[in-house]
Amino acid sequence: MALQLGDVAPDFTAESTEGTIHFYDYLGDSWGVLFSHPKDFTPVCTTELGEVARLKGEFDKRNTKVLGLSVDSLESHQSWVGDIEDATGNALNYPLLADPDHTVSDLYGMIHPNASDTLTVRSVFVIGPDKKVKLTITYPASTGRNFAEILRVIDSLQLTSGHSVSTPVNWTAGEDVIISPAISDEDAATRFPKGFRTVKPYLRLTPQPDR
Ligand code: BEZ
Repeated sequence: MALQLGDVAPDFTAESTEGTIHFYDYLGDSWGVLFSHPKDFTPVCTTELGEVARLKGEFDKRNTKVLGLSVDSLESHQSWVGDIEDATGNALNYPLLADPDHTVSDLYGMIHPNASDTLTVRSVFVIGPDKKVKLTITYPASTGRNFAEILRVIDSLQLTSGHSVSTPVNWTAGEDVIISPAISDEDAATRFPKGFRTVKPYLRLTPQPDR
């Protein structure tokens, strides 16, 4: 069965452009983003990997380690990385896993046989410091992902893991958040000293608590 939210992210050892990766050791106590792309030397993948390199500082700020993967060989990755910099202006600054025997792809369900028997789809797994899966997203080969959205979700996941709040539609960091309906108005007044406004009894908004 496919990996689901709350499942433990499987550990693995694999070769990468930055040497052998022992996944749990690589993550340490950080958050992680493991993402697959279908194939080296292809246009959409080139733009995606360059974009993740451009955003690496944003992932670092969020204590989040990124890791790319495809079923291509390490030699293929090594020949391709120069193109990523040429095409996007961003040099690869995170490891790209080689998974020619599909070990990691199979563990994470990244090959969807009705899309392609041999290539990974565009999977994203966000993994928490507890090594549990917090987010899964799957895109087809024809559609490049929006990695700003992945950062936005990480902001929400990190905030909501530490406070009794959730984040509304299209929320971005710094905007008001929703107080858990399980908290009484009386408790909310002490837990959220910046105050809150009640739109409906189950929809109460408060300024982001960790700012
Ligand atoms: C691409 O990155 O452009 C791509 C890769 C595999 C299949 C289709 C498109």
